[in-house]
Amino acid sequence: MKPRLPYGKQTIGQEEHDLVREVLNSDWLTQGPRLGEFEGALRDLCRVRHAFAVTNGTDALFLACRAAGLGPGDRFLTTANTFAATANAAVMCGAEPVFVDIDPGSLNLDPILVEKALAADPSIKVMLPVHFGGLVCDMDRLAAAADHHDITIIEDACHAVGGQWQDQDRQWHSVGSCARSSLTCFSFHPVKCLTTGEGGAVTTNDDQLAERITLLRNHGITKSEEILEKNDGGWYYEMHDLGINARLTDLQAAIGLAQIKRLSAWQQRRLQLVQQYDADLADLDQVSTQTRPNGEDRNCYHLMVVRTSRRRQLYDYLHEQGILVQVHYIPVHLQPYFRKRFGTGPGLCPETEKYYSEALSLPLFPAMSDQDQQRTVAAMREFHGKNH
Ligand SMILES: Cc1ncc(COP(=O)(O)O)c(C=O)c1O
Repeated sequence: MKPRLPYGKQTIGQEEHDLVREVLNSDWLTQGPRLGEFEGALRDLCRVRHAFAVTNGTDALFLACRAAGLGPGDRFLTTANTFAATANAAVMCGAEPVFVDIDPGSLNLDPILVEKALAADPSIKVMLPVHFGGLVCDMDRLAAAADHHDITIIEDACHAVGGQWQDQDRQWHSVGSCARSSLTCFSFHPVKCLTTGEGGAVTTNDDQLAERITLLRNHGITKSEEILEKNDGGWYYEMHDLGINARLTDLQAAIGLAQIKRLSAWQQRRLQLVQQYDADLADLDQVSTQTRPNGEDRNCYHLMVVRTSRRRQLYDYLHEQGILVQVHYIPVHLQPYFRKRFGTGPGLCPETEKYYSEALSLPLFPAMSDQDQQRTVAAMREFHGKNH
């Protein structure tokens, strides 16, 4: 049996074990001190005013959409090259999707098509760009298009926690700083760059949006003196909106606290692996990789995606070798639910559909050894008839 090499995997160390045990022995399994500490660490990482740790990335997106006022009768613009949750969160608010195609190099939303779609449809209220694989979208151009049409940007940064990007004035920004958006959402699922088991976060610099998130993530319930209509005593609370329970436990926050300290080292290792893959696969004519930023690259890559004309055969070949590659993503607009409910279908986003037919995600995680990578590269080269 060949050893199995997954496409992604969490790294858990002694500190995660120690901090979780500490929480188990404490009085607070949820809503205790570790949650606040983790949110503080997220604020520092993202250089942002507010950070809310929540149950998962899907709830983070749902809360962000609700806070932005997305509702029935509205439309939202997003990419179909994403996990279904990006669109689902907005659909759950009652809004209708407008899927815009990707740039075939970056695999992110194409800003020219975004501008066209916004100009054509005044009912679009929110834009949800996804930093696919960790490569940050062209936020300057997306924000310029959004400003023109008074659109709220909610970044789906579920792939991109820990990264930084450079604007057109060569200024660096942390992902999650909301430098060109109103809100940013993260997922801390185990295959992501930072994990809490299940988990997610919303960040914003806007105090009013922060107030909405505070309310909505706790059933719409408040004890805030400024909001209460009356006060019957110390126990008293009021429900002012229809919210959800999006509480992250202190057990999960403790894992996140241990993880966040090592995120920068993991980012470096991920980047090193991505750059090595780019170099080692460069001479394979049938294989191409995602474009990288001009100049210094400080993305935190979640995925190492390649395009290949013989994807089906290559997928099977690598799996036979124990190299458990994956496909990201089956375009959301081709999913039966979206086809039936919104009348989407083949031909709507041709670049996304073409990319899907060629897409493969190679193993990428910080604990992966150089030998693991060489094994993957060797199998890729062998499949394409290049043995050296
Ligand atoms: C781009 C994107 N958005 C949203 C999500 C949803 O995150 P979660 O699984 O934490 O709910 C994911 C998770 O896979 C994702 O990849």
